[in-house]
Amino acid sequence: MAWTSLTVDVAERDSELAQSLLHDAGAAGLEVRDHEQPPMPDVRAPKPGEAILIAYFDQADAARSALELLRDELTVQAHAVEAVVEKDWSVEWRSRVRSVTVGRLWVGPPWEKDTAPADKVKLFIEPKMAFGTGDHPTTSLCLAAVDTLLAAYPGASVLDVGTGTGVLAFAAKKLGAGRVVATDNDPVAVELAKECAEENGLSGIELSGKTLDQVSGPFDVVLANILANTLIELAPKLVPLVGKRLVLAGVLTHQAAEVRRAFTERGLVSVGDVVQGEWIRLDLARP
Ligand SMILES: C[S@@+](CC[C@H](N)C(=O)[O-])C[C@H]1O[C@@H](n2cnc3c(N)ncnc32)[C@H](O)[C@@H]1O
Repeated sequence: MAWTSLTVDVAERDSELAQSLLHDAGAAGLEVRDHEQPPMPDVRAPKPGEAILIAYFDQADAARSALELLRDELTVQAHAVEAVVEKDWSVEWRSRVRSVTVGRLWVGPPWEKDTAPADKVKLFIEPKMAFGTGDHPTTSLCLAAVDTLLAAYPGASVLDVGTGTGVLAFAAKKLGAGRVVATDNDPVAVELAKECAEENGLSGIELSGKTLDQVSGPFDVVLANILANTLIELAPKLVPLVGKRLVLAGVLTHQAAEVRRAFTERGLVSVGDVVQGEWIRLDLARP
């Protein structure tokens, strides 16, 4: 396969947002070089206060569109779009995925099956083209909410909007949820999530590319780990689907007030926030 790489230099404070946008733009893999993940001695290092992100795409056009998407949202200091010499990307990627333990849940790649802790509810997610291997802060923030809410509302009905690999929906189902509906507007994600459900021995999850208009609710618990601007756009359709609790993520701390307002002005109440690094989870409830 001929890959195209998009290399961008961004301010380190924009790095998480840029990574998320690159995933959304279809990057099949991502390398990050910043002060926490410094590069090997023989490769270019970021300037102080900056990060270098290298995203891999299977189409040159997709790399160029991703660059445009980034430029709409943040300042790109420097960039390069280049053809990549043949490389076994799946092997490269494998070395980067980490398992996470959140509450009763363990989420990790299938090749860690033998080392996964026996006392946890386990989910195996093969990192492919969809977002949601568990190790991104926005995902682990939501996994913690799923753990808490399924304990508080046993058998709850759950809607997971922007399901990616399906990780949150699967976690909910494994923790005893009743009806589980999971949607994503990316057809590749929906297909991968279906495969992943099967690999985890899960059936009965309603996985599709349905829009919110096409989903019949309400649900006890609604999860939406997308981006701030998308959440604000979806608010009018999302709020009527919330029976008891809504969990929002994919939001940077400085975007929280605006996102929260879009939901509280439609009748939900804020019941708390959880911050991890630059990311925040907003918890809301139907009063
Ligand atoms: C940040 S990922 C979250 C994946 C997973 N739920 C997790 O927590 O790791 C966001 C997902 O939302 C999807 N998405 C973006 N905009 C959407 C929309 N308007 N409706 C449904 N899904 C959307 C993307 O395709 C992507 O898979």
